[in-house]
Amino acid sequence: MNIAVIGIGYVGLVTGVCLSEIGNNVTCIDIDEEKVKTLRSGKSPIYEEGLEELLQTNIQRERLHFTSNYEEGLAAKEVIFLAVGTPQGADGSADLTFLNTVCSDIVKYLHNDVVIVTKSTVPIGTNEHIKTSIEQNAITNLTVKVVSNPEFLRQGTAVHDTFNGDRIVIGCEDEEAMDIMEEIYKPYNIPIVKTDLRSAEMIKYASNTFLATKISFINEIANLCEHVGANVDDVANGIGMDGRIGGRFLKAGIGYGGSCFPKDTNAIIALGNRVDYPMFILESVQYVNEKQTDILVDKIIKRFSGNIEDITIALLGLAFKANTDDMRGAPSVQVAHRIIDAGAKINAYDPVAVENAKSVLPKEVNYVKTIEEVLNHANCAVILTDWKEIKEYPISLFRQYLSYPIVFDGRNCFSLEKFNGSGIEYHSVGRPSINRQN
Ligand code: UDX
Repeated sequence: MNIAVIGIGYVGLVTGVCLSEIGNNVTCIDIDEEKVKTLRSGKSPIYEEGLEELLQTNIQRERLHFTSNYEEGLAAKEVIFLAVGTPQGADGSADLTFLNTVCSDIVKYLHNDVVIVTKSTVPIGTNEHIKTSIEQNAITNLTVKVVSNPEFLRQGTAVHDTFNGDRIVIGCEDEEAMDIMEEIYKPYNIPIVKTDLRSAEMIKYASNTFLATKISFINEIANLCEHVGANVDDVANGIGMDGRIGGRFLKAGIGYGGSCFPKDTNAIIALGNRVDYPMFILESVQYVNEKQTDILVDKIIKRFSGNIEDITIALLGLAFKANTDDMRGAPSVQVAHRIIDAGAKINAYDPVAVENAKSVLPKEVNYVKTIEEVLNHANCAVILTDWKEIKEYPISLFRQYLSYPIVFDGRNCFSLEKFNGSGIEYHSVGRPSINRQN
C-alpha cells in the first residue's frame, strides 16, 4: 500500500516506521525541514526503544521516505494518516489549529479519491468535519473517506506497543475504507474493533481517562491506607487479582503526568461542560491527581516541624515517568515550586530530563550530574521518577551521603523490608513509614 503520514512527532514517526516495516511504501511528511534532514540520515529525533534500527533498515529497503514537500509526499498515495499534535486549547479542549492547517494545505495536491486516517486525538465529530472541509475545498471533484484510528502507544515502549497492542480501533462508515484498513493492519495480527467514527473518537478519550481514573483511585486509597496503617501495595495486589478489576495501572505514587492523561481528562471535562453534562468522576480524578503532589510536600514540611526554610532537598528524578526526557505534566514541577516557595534549596538529578526541566522548574533549582552529588549534604531525598538506576540504588548510600538519612519516596521504588533496621527513615505513598524518628 502507498501511504503518507503527516506530522512526524512520536505518534507519526512510530506509525510510519512500523507501517514500512510490515511492507508498505511510506512517506512521512513534516514542515520541519531540520527534522526531515535528520530522519533522512537515519537518525531519530526522539528516543524510542528499537525505533532507530527499524528506521535505518526501512530507509535502506527504500520503502520509508521523508519530505517537507506535500506535492512530493502525497503523490500516488492511497491512504493518508494524520498525526499532527492537538495540544490543549485555552478552554481545556483540544486545539485543532495544526490539523485544520494541514487539511487546508493538502487539498491542492489531492486529485483522486482518498482515505484519510486520523491518528491524532481529536474531539468527537472532528473526522466528519475533516471530510466536509477537504471535499468542499478540493480542486477536483473527489470523495474523501475518513477513518478514526486512535493510538494507544506509551512513550518509551511505542514500537513494542505497536506490534503487541491489545486491540486496533477502526472507526469508519465506509465499507471499502474499512477493508483497506483491515488489509493494512492484517500483518500486526492484533484484534480489530470496528465501529463508527464518533465511537472510535470517544474510545480514545474513554481509554485514557479510565486509566487516569484507576491511578487517582489507587492514590486516594493509598492516602487512606496511610491514615489507617494499611499497605497500598498489598491492597493493589489483592484487588488487582480480581479479573474484573485488573492489576495494571494500580501503582500508587505522586500522580500521573505526561502529554496525554492530563490533556485528555481536561478535554473530556470541557466537552461535558459544553454539552451541559458535567463529568463529576473525572473532575474528581483531576482533583485527586493535583492534590497528590501537595500531600507529599505537606508530609516533608511536617517532618521538619513546619519549617523547611534554608534546608536542602535532593530531588531524584524529574521526568513525568522513567525512560523519557518529557517534562509535560511532570509532578516534579509542582513539587519543586512549592519547595522553593517554602524557602528550601533544591539540588536536582535526572539522567536525561534536565535540559527540558530547566524551562519549567523554578530558576533557583541547582542541577547535578550524579545521584551521589544530589544526595551529598542534603537534609532529605525525595524520589519523583522511578528510573531503574534510582530503584537499584544501594540504600546504604542514602545514609552515607545525606546529612539526615530521610527518604520520601513518591514512587514506592523500594520494598519496606529493605529499610528495616537500615537506620534510614523511609516514607512512601500509602505504606507505613519505616524508622520514623518523630
Ligand atoms: C499514556 C497511555 O498509556 C497511552 O495509551 C496513550 O496513548 C498516551 O498516554 P504515556 O503518557 O506514555 O501513555 O504514559 P503511561 O506509561 O501510560 O503513564 C502515564 C502516567 O501515569 C505517568 O506519569 C506514570 O508515572 C503514571 N502511572 C502509570 C502511575 O502513577 N501509576 C500507574 O500504575 C501507571
